Amino acid sequence: MDIKQIGVVGMGLMGSGIVESCARAGFEVIGREVNDELLERGMNSLKASMERGVKKGKLTQADMDAALARVKGATSLADFTSCDLVIEAAVENMALKKTIFTELDVITRPEAILASNTSSLSITEIASATGRPDKVVGLHFFNPVPVMPLLEVVSGLLTSQETLDMARWMGERLNKQVIYAKDTPGFIVNLLLVPYLFDAVRALENGVASKEDIDTGIKLGLSHPMGPFALMDFVGLDTCLFIGDAMYQEFKDARYAAPPLLRRMVTAGLLGRKSGRGFYSY
Ligand code: CAA
Repeated sequence: MDIKQIGVVGMGLMGSGIVESCARAGFEVIGREVNDELLERGMNSLKASMERGVKKGKLTQADMDAALARVKGATSLADFTSCDLVIEAAVENMALKKTIFTELDVITRPEAILASNTSSLSITEIASATGRPDKVVGLHFFNPVPVMPLLEVVSGLLTSQETLDMARWMGERLNKQVIYAKDTPGFIVNLLLVPYLFDAVRALENGVASKEDIDTGIKLGLSHPMGPFALMDFVGLDTCLFIGDAMYQEFKDARYAAPPLLRRMVTAGLLGRKSGRGFYSY
């Protein structure tokens, strides 16, 4: 595979983790945010994550410095002209993603691969905004990206085998286990995760137990690193709601219908760790 330079659209929670993983694997990476303030925030969280990795003995200071030297920041997609692969990690909004992909289709070389980190939107629909749907693929990473060892590769209806081969190669280079999913809402992991998380909220709404006891039950009874409420706070309640709504819209299945409490919390701005308060306070 001839992938040397990677562009990442969005330097939020997922985007900055993707930039970190790619830079540590030896790729030249351009991370793009919409303005200087968000770019600086993304770069800072990238550095903070690597410093945590150094402190924990996962990489050396020299590795960190070398990885950072491979990262460039940008505020325009026009900087992606020489990228071999672009991974979009913008907010989960189909209209926005289509605009980004239409622009990327014009800016990048015709042979460049265009990937989306979407956790719930259709890869086939995103690809329809380009003239190269065979080169569009889902690369769904998990949070925190540098720590989670999984890459879910999502194939749109027109994604080529060559593009899927590149996705596997990327997964191996990033030290991630690759799994393949078809372009169905929620792919593999969120298809199972969302009903579980929503059932936890429904159990809380129904007074089955406290959120603390539900979390402890799942942590100690099933050996999960986090219980469902801690996990929703970690992922972001708005993101959980968005994924659930997108799945419900397609399946019309009550399992994916967001519990009222979750929707009220998002309306109130209780988004989890990122806003300082969700099911728990931070
Ligand atoms: N690079 C490499 N390793 C790093 C690192 C970095 N930048 N930063 C931290 N680490 C390592 C640490 O060294 C540690 O490794 P060891 O266990 O070998 O010591 C490990 O990562 C955990 O880090 P911490 O000690 O800082 O934190 P923790 O032990 O409290 O664990 C957690 C935090 C990893 C988040 C853990 O609680 C966990 O796995 N939670 C579940 C996360 C999860 O389910 N994520 C998926 C969410 S769903 C999603 O993302 C998809 C979607 O579409 C919604």
